[in-house]
Amino acid sequence: MQENLPITIIIFGASGDLTHRKLIPALFSSYKKGKLPEKFNVVGFARRDWSHEYFREQLKDGMNEFAEEMFEEELWEVFQRRLWYFKGDLDSTADFEKMRAYLNDLEDGHSNRLYYLATAPNFFVPIVKSLGQAGLAREGGNGWRHVVIEKPFGHDLKSAQELNDAIHGVFLEHQIYRIDHYLGKETAQNILYFRFANTIFEPIWNRNYIDNVQITVAESVDVGHRAGYYDQAGVVRDMFQNHLMQLLALVAMEPPSSFEDADAIRNEKVKLFNSIRPIDLADTVRAQYDGYLQAERVAPHSQTPTYAALKLNIDNWRWQGVPFYLRSGKALTEKCSEIIIQFKKPPQLMFPSLDDGDFTSNALSICIQPDEGIHLRFEAKVPDLKTTDSVDMEFHYRSSFSGNTLPDAYERLLMNAIRGDAALFTRSDGIEAAWRLMDPILQGWETAAAPPMATYEPGSWGPVAANELLGKNGRSWRHDCGQHTGNGR
Ligand code: BG6
Repeated sequence: MQENLPITIIIFGASGDLTHRKLIPALFSSYKKGKLPEKFNVVGFARRDWSHEYFREQLKDGMNEFAEEMFEEELWEVFQRRLWYFKGDLDSTADFEKMRAYLNDLEDGHSNRLYYLATAPNFFVPIVKSLGQAGLAREGGNGWRHVVIEKPFGHDLKSAQELNDAIHGVFLEHQIYRIDHYLGKETAQNILYFRFANTIFEPIWNRNYIDNVQITVAESVDVGHRAGYYDQAGVVRDMFQNHLMQLLALVAMEPPSSFEDADAIRNEKVKLFNSIRPIDLADTVRAQYDGYLQAERVAPHSQTPTYAALKLNIDNWRWQGVPFYLRSGKALTEKCSEIIIQFKKPPQLMFPSLDDGDFTSNALSICIQPDEGIHLRFEAKVPDLKTTDSVDMEFHYRSSFSGNTLPDAYERLLMNAIRGDAALFTRSDGIEAAWRLMDPILQGWETAAAPPMATYEPGSWGPVAANELLGKNGRSWRHDCGQHTGNGR
């Protein structure tokens, strides 16, 4: 059985941020929980002239800085003996040949292998090609070979297709794991459980009862030291094409025929993406926070948005006529990812004291982070008065499951890639379908038809234009998670 074989995890770009910030803490945590096979090795491939010892020290420092709460000196001592450093050049096919010999020596027999591409995206194709040329991608009796690709997956549709083609030239789809770390978040996974493990929500999860859906992924940090990358990417490529589209898919897709079958889930997502009407530029808002243009490594006249809001329409039976509003930005008032399902008003308000204009209809808020949980807002009679007020029925992960800490998204995703469970990874057609929706926006924003570049104060909820996007249809953004008041903008 291949599952019982030892495993080698090879991290390309091992001297980078992701390795010590996320990957090693995730592997250490899995090790601590006994989830890694008894025999495993982690090999860091990078260009710098480091020794195994120095690599281990760096990773230990990373643990202390980013995962102090889970660090245990004694356990680390044992764990770190499985960490190895291989000095190699990502552009050199010869170094991949050397790595093959190195791995064969280290493994001393058959072993499964997980290749993790934690490098800048321009190295993805050369690495994959070299893996192919060195015979490192072939699966046989010697164990499986999986490859994990970090984001960004392409810069637009064309480059994503080229990247998919290059990877498919070496690996089969079942070997490929394209990361979107939002799918590893417990609360994102809970969306499907919430919808399909309960009877009371799904019957009203449609155009007959829902007025609109809002997806907010707000960040309080600005672009900081990532300005160089960010100014080339912008919020649509950085957040919408991947994270927001995946959240949208989970909220809006039809039930998959099986939860065990990754393709059943991914088929439904692609079907959903293909039902989204091309987005009208008039339904888009782009903005930059005040001060962005002055940030180091941002082009002086940059037109890169740090904030965007979009209105989407889904042309299918379930969602016809229900607008989906998506927004995301940097330097906003708080870090908060939430999905709001705003229900319709009751067909008739029979309480004369309730003002129709002011009336708040029911809202269900799925709080992805930081206060993971679900809120259901409904109206209750105010004691002694003939009127109502909105009250909140709340579920919080931390209090309901207080014994269980929420695992980091990377821990879950790494373990799934090891187990061969691709349900939480994006498939090539899903990635391309999402790009097909985003490309026309990015291109349209470079033409005269683009909406003006708005600005917003750092620490605010974004530009006024984003409120108008909903306001013109008598709606407004809601923000319910982590607070006890109603509307928020
Ligand atoms: C990354 C983006 O994919 O997601 C970052 O590149 C962003 O710009 C990050 O800050 C947000 O992730 P999270 O898990 O902190 O919401």
